[in-house]
Amino acid sequence: MQLSLLDTPDPKETARKRADELRRLLEHHNRLYYVLDAPEISDAEYDSLFRELQALELRFPELVSPESPTQRVGGTALEKFRAVTHRLPMLSLENATNDSEIREFDLRVKKVLGLAPDAVVEYVCEPKLDGLAVELVYEEGVLTVGATRGDGITGEDVTANIRTIRALPLRLGGKGIPPLLEVRGEVFLSLEAFQRINAEKEEQGEAPFANPRNAAAGSLRQLDPRITARRPLSFFCYAPGACEGVEFGSQQEFLNSTAGWGVPVNPLVRRVQGIEATVAYYLEMQQRRESLPYEIDGTVIKVDSFALQRELGEKSRSPRWAVACKFPPRQAVTVVENIIHSVGRTGVITPVAQLSPVEISGVTVSRATLHNWDEITAKDIRVGDTVVVERAGDVIPAVVRVVTERRNSNAQPSLPPAKCPECGSEVVRIADEVAVRCMGLSCPPQIRESIMHFASRNAMDIEGLGEKFIEQLLSLGLVHSVADLYHLTRDDFMRFERMGDKLASNLLTAIENSKQRDLGRFIFALGIRHVGERTAKSLAQAFGSLENLERATFEELTSIRDIGATVAQSIRTFFDNQENIAVIRRMLEAGVAPAVEEKRVGGRFTGKSFVFTGKLSHFTREDASRLVEDEGGSAVGSVSKKTDFVVAGEDAGSKLAKARELGVTVLTEEEFLELVGQKG
Ligand code: IVH
Repeated sequence: MQLSLLDTPDPKETARKRADELRRLLEHHNRLYYVLDAPEISDAEYDSLFRELQALELRFPELVSPESPTQRVGGTALEKFRAVTHRLPMLSLENATNDSEIREFDLRVKKVLGLAPDAVVEYVCEPKLDGLAVELVYEEGVLTVGATRGDGITGEDVTANIRTIRALPLRLGGKGIPPLLEVRGEVFLSLEAFQRINAEKEEQGEAPFANPRNAAAGSLRQLDPRITARRPLSFFCYAPGACEGVEFGSQQEFLNSTAGWGVPVNPLVRRVQGIEATVAYYLEMQQRRESLPYEIDGTVIKVDSFALQRELGEKSRSPRWAVACKFPPRQAVTVVENIIHSVGRTGVITPVAQLSPVEISGVTVSRATLHNWDEITAKDIRVGDTVVVERAGDVIPAVVRVVTERRNSNAQPSLPPAKCPECGSEVVRIADEVAVRCMGLSCPPQIRESIMHFASRNAMDIEGLGEKFIEQLLSLGLVHSVADLYHLTRDDFMRFERMGDKLASNLLTAIENSKQRDLGRFIFALGIRHVGERTAKSLAQAFGSLENLERATFEELTSIRDIGATVAQSIRTFFDNQENIAVIRRMLEAGVAPAVEEKRVGGRFTGKSFVFTGKLSHFTREDASRLVEDEGGSAVGSVSKKTDFVVAGEDAGSKLAKARELGVTVLTEEEFLELVGQKG
């Protein structure tokens, strides 16, 4: 033994070193790709590193270790969520990129199965959703765990977030539900939701998500499930995991059963006979992808029979019975003719590339969003550049990269405008934001957008007052701020094109009716930056009146749950602005009287106080406080004789000691969950 160590031949030592380095590199890129959604190398480059390691391990089997990337399925789990080990590894798929590669897959299948080349295999064809893979565990029909794929062996416990997916049953329905059913599937965002989330992000001055997949991953990995709940994630099931007490004969049978128990299954799934039908399906989906409400990046073909699947078996990372048929990317090369600046409601100025029109899969593209100047700088996009443009699940295409080899020497870098292109006001860049904003209070597009927001359904809900009428009010000079809406007369409306008596009185009535909206809606309608519907509601509940809110100090604001320094500062900035106060005064004078909401009383914890201490691992302090407050109790910071409960997490220190000393009831996190009835 010692001898052989001393004798270590050089090639082996070199191989060991290289294998270590490859593992480190692969782990690093796995993490960038799977965990951080920010790959630095292409799939092809990754594959070549991977194959090099596989080759080394094949030559020197003693180098293989369980933690080698070849022995798992790729990536590492994030640390912040609890780790979940999948009962069965979650595999990946091999890719085919055109119809001949699809036919090669069919020939391989038949060869392994010992079938003639012209035999007809039964396949199930499915759209390949571009989201992220998760596993859902149903025990006795109840959803107990939802986990991300992670590295295929271990994922992250995102149960709380999974539970917010409305399409998913928390308990299965129907007959014959097995004691254990694991289903795998894709969590994704509709294109509509993706665009909405990005519009919100841009309005808030945050960097938007590059595509729906990143948006879905970002939403599912939120530590705060309330944020996830605001992101309408969807799910389609596509494969079984470990199951007990049930046998499925085929993929089709599995999908039928799970759909029967209430798990969403994509209605476009189709069972077909033979490979030509799968090619036809691939081509059909490539056409239909344009009109689907979610992003797909290919189709997946699976041998239907589970007996045949077992016979075909698996390679280390992917099954031999399935293949992903990828669509060609929706990209084209064109030229940036100009970079223009568009102004939104909150004054955010977005750079937009005007392109030489180019067709990308049936759609003529002449504009691409550049999101913000950080993005322009990072990609070094200049007027006159030749660029690769991609339509990736967004109505507005994006610039992927510049073809620098084709750069013209006179291509000029683009700078943010010094003045607002609409009103000429000063433009500023706020610290910590990627956005550049126009600070002009009377900037026309800002006024238009702010009135539209004010009148919208979730705000003051002024029925009938849509974009068309608002445009006319502005161009006739009848409104300069939202307050002017409450000073309009019938004669004002009669100056509109094609306006009748009836319509004018309907609009006046709608405006009149909006005067009594509740305070939460009114606060939301004001369009204060960072104050969405929920925050507005919390503010209304906490302060009870507009006057109180107007006078609230920064400290009072930040003491409200959900409200951090940024939001508090933004509220203060809004009410410190005399123009805003004048607008509010004019509305109140005209009879706007936001109705005050009652604080909830009579909950189970009315009069009870809770202190949370130590490291909480099942919920955040904010969540726990909310649960308590929703039931009429209060969450306080320090322990006294009056404290009713102390909830102690890991490493609880002096507060726990004090509670014991004072004889206050101490609960573990689990006991607290039981108390609020959230467990199980
Ligand atoms: S089957 C062993 N079916 O594609 C079977 N995967 O490259 C594993 N995907 O990680 C997956 N739609 O996230 C399957 N209908 C579908 C799919 C699908 C999307 C994703 C999934 C997987 C990746 C594999």
